[in-house]
Amino acid sequence: MHFTMEAQKRCRASIPDASIAIDMTAGNGFDSLFLAQCVGSQGTVYALDLQAEAVAKTALRVAEAGYASVVRCIHADHADLANHVSLEHRGNISCAMFNLGYLPFSDKSVVTQASTTLRALDALEAILAPAGLISILSYVGHPTGLQESQAVEGWIARRASRYNIERLVDESNLASPILWLMRRHSEAIEN
Ligand SMILES: C[S@@+](CC[C@H](N)C(=O)[O-])C[C@H]1O[C@@H](n2cnc3c(N)ncnc32)[C@H](O)[C@@H]1O
Repeated sequence: MHFTMEAQKRCRASIPDASIAIDMTAGNGFDSLFLAQCVGSQGTVYALDLQAEAVAKTALRVAEAGYASVVRCIHADHADLANHVSLEHRGNISCAMFNLGYLPFSDKSVVTQASTTLRALDALEAILAPAGLISILSYVGHPTGLQESQAVEGWIARRASRYNIERLVDESNLASPILWLMRRHSEAIEN
């Protein structure tokens, strides 16, 4: 299974035209561009990354495809998401994607960490739309990846009653990435 493609395939139907989506780990901008194509010219995509290099790559990729006005490229820790999403978009996020780990072909020391990933999930949950979808692609094969995947799994398990949850892995590969898809039950909003 090609996990990044599978994540996009599973998200597509949950992203209406003119809606609001978030790429929580912009990286090379592939998911940001995908989200921009889904929301279209009247929608908004927030694309966050801790690395300036990734933000620049994402900005270039979406601009070259004609989506510069749709994607807000933000150089920030996703744990601080709440500081970057406009008031009118809070509670209206149709889909958010995490592709955890490090930027391919780049500085592998900048890697997502369990503590900030969980804070980012908390911040995201607070602004997710009813029936909003969270996609999390996690890698167990790098030094901090297993710990992060277990932390994410625990975070998800504590929300089992509030979301429909799917977990996809390649059973033939012990080091398979894990793709979680979490759709919030629309009646599960507590505040
Ligand atoms: C696997 S890459 C993402 C690939 C990307 N989705 C794409 O389509 O090209 C993971 C990214 O997460 C970023 N990252 C790591 N820690 C982060 C954090 N705390 N907040 C935001 N981004 C972070 C890294 O800089 C890296 O670019």
